[in-house]
Amino acid sequence: MSVVKRPLAVITGASSGIGLELARLAASKGYDLVIASDEPEIETAATALREGGVEVVALQADLASVSGVDDLYALITSKGRSVDLLMANAGRGLGRGFLDQDIYAWRRVVETNITGTVYLVQKVGRDMRDRKVGRILITGSIAGFMPGTFQAVYNGTKAFLNSFSFALRNELKDTGVSVTCLMPGPTETHFFERADMLDTKVALDEKDTASDVALAGFEAMMKGEGDVVSGWKNKLQTSLASVTPSGILAEQHRKMAEPGTAR
Ligand SMILES: NC(=O)c1ccc[n+]([C@@H]2O[C@H](COP(=O)([O-])OP(=O)(O)OC[C@H]3O[C@@H](n4cnc5c(N)ncnc54)[C@H](OP(=O)(O)O)[C@@H]3O)[C@@H](O)[C@H]2O)c1
Repeated sequence: MSVVKRPLAVITGASSGIGLELARLAASKGYDLVIASDEPEIETAATALREGGVEVVALQADLASVSGVDDLYALITSKGRSVDLLMANAGRGLGRGFLDQDIYAWRRVVETNITGTVYLVQKVGRDMRDRKVGRILITGSIAGFMPGTFQAVYNGTKAFLNSFSFALRNELKDTGVSVTCLMPGPTETHFFERADMLDTKVALDEKDTASDVALAGFEAMMKGEGDVVSGWKNKLQTSLASVTPSGILAEQHRKMAEPGTAR
């Protein structure tokens, strides 16, 4: 009797937050999962996701490094499986003034958000192009629309991803591979704590839930849309950002992200 394999979804940064919710959605739609993140908590996430009855393989890997991405790709290919959905979501923020940031900390933001993401997308994307089918979701951010005063490097990485996503999407048109950019606004996850931003206004403000944001991204990816900004406030903010001078946007960002603005 032949065993019918379920389709496969790969989700990075799936141990918590938006990535975990993306993984839950893919599992609920019957996808087997390969999930990856940097800390041992990825195994806890895998155990919970297996309760949905799908096959889940977890990898603890530093996706800021080329070797971490190579390990993830080797794991995927060692199973002889092809990737139907790639959700390149792993990322990290970093608050405070740029001149006061540690070089290792800001390089880690660049290497996780940009280098690791685009390297994984390139490896899996080549296979998808050869098979003439596949869907890629990249987690960018509305932060990519504004200069990130007191979060300068992070916003720059997200501007890169927003732009990269649309460029790759156009390169791949008519290939059967779609690229979608999920652009969340402030979302309730570990993000602000890990970015050392708990003393900022944006960390205290009301936020979207990770499950709502993930659902918007997952649906947009499945429809093959170019991008999705989750939540009406964020949609308004991005529309205004496109007609607002950069200096004003930078000042607005200061009011949200300057240390000590949480009151
Ligand atoms: N929360 C927001 O307000 C917001 C807004 C816009 C965009 N985003 C983006 O959404 C994505 C998910 O973030 P989140 O808000 O869900 O935060 P989160 O709960 O902190 O999740 C981040 C995930 O990325 C993983 N990760 C970070 N660095 C990694 C590395 N070097 N290698 C492997 N995995 C790594 C983390 O795994 P470990 O815990 O194992 O390190 C975790 O699974 C990020 O790309 C973030 O930039 C977030």
